[in-house]
Amino acid sequence: MAFPANRLRRLRRTETLRTLVRETRLTPESFIYPLFICPGSGIRKEVGSMPGVFNLSIDEAVKEVRAARSLGVLSVILFGLPEKKDEVATGAWAENGIVQKAARAIKSEVRDVVVMGDVCLCEYMSHGHCGVVKANNEAEPQSLGAAAAAPPATTEYEIVNDASLELLARTSVSLARAGVDVIAPSDMMDGRVGAIRTALDEAGFENTPILAYAAKFASGFYGPFREAADSTPKFGDRRSYQMDPANLHEAMREIELDVEEGADMIMVKPAMPYLDVIAAARDRFDLPLAAYQVSGEYAMIEAAARNQWIDRERVMMESLLCIRRAGASMILTYYAMEAAKFLA
Ligand code: PBG
Repeated sequence: MAFPANRLRRLRRTETLRTLVRETRLTPESFIYPLFICPGSGIRKEVGSMPGVFNLSIDEAVKEVRAARSLGVLSVILFGLPEKKDEVATGAWAENGIVQKAARAIKSEVRDVVVMGDVCLCEYMSHGHCGVVKANNEAEPQSLGAAAAAPPATTEYEIVNDASLELLARTSVSLARAGVDVIAPSDMMDGRVGAIRTALDEAGFENTPILAYAAKFASGFYGPFREAADSTPKFGDRRSYQMDPANLHEAMREIELDVEEGADMIMVKPAMPYLDVIAAARDRFDLPLAAYQVSGEYAMIEAAARNQWIDRERVMMESLLCIRRAGASMILTYYAMEAAKFLA
């Protein structure tokens, strides 16, 4: 039966009615709050391209986690800015690495918080790539003769997959030892979930879950993060390991493989430009599903709001709500605290 019997506006008349029929709700428990940990003490240094986001020394990070916890945000994910970088990402897996120290401090000082560790090598490698780099300028076979001129080399370097797995596994075990509750690999090497699962099990951490950045796209939306985490690649880009933004079916394969390798939870990243990927993943997989509202998504909202082109609170809440509606049960967001305050 159509109009006039059907009038959908009947249930939109008052805020109470709208609340009653609302299909999706946001709660602070579904937010995961990313923190950037830097050396030193008493440091709270704002990230230029992410107003309201800070590099925090460990003491400040502990305070931040406590504040987040008191607002109902149950979980944080840690990224580290190490003292120095090298070609084997020592800072990622060192017993006294910056994230290891932060995790110990947070776990000993804040009760009932889930500490996740982002596992990647880019912040700790001098070249800024997520894996081990091998130069490919070894003598090309020049003997093919002038007639069959060799095609120009398309890559002078390679991000080596299997050699990176060992460092990622070592990092994961070291983080678990430091008390990290959830291991979250974001590097996009093939086979890393399996390698990390095996290494964790061998080290006695069979109860430590893995949240796999399963469908992580090579995205321009990560720009501000690279300033925050000082992880811009010194040459090239991440397109040989992160996914092509054009590919939805491949995203399903990525997730499927991570599930087979033992992922306990899966993630789609970025969030808002990839809501279709979130929805497809929700439909197809029965694991807890996270989405990462990344730095560029945050920065765009902040920049537009600063110009008074949009209403900041409204767009913040709408962006998060829509990521939930698409199917993510958890959202990694720089708005975790702000949104939790808004909900309170
Ligand atoms: C590390 C990593 C990145 C992000 C999370 N983990 C950057 C990248 O892949 O370049 C991006 C998060 C954000 O933009 O907020 N590999």
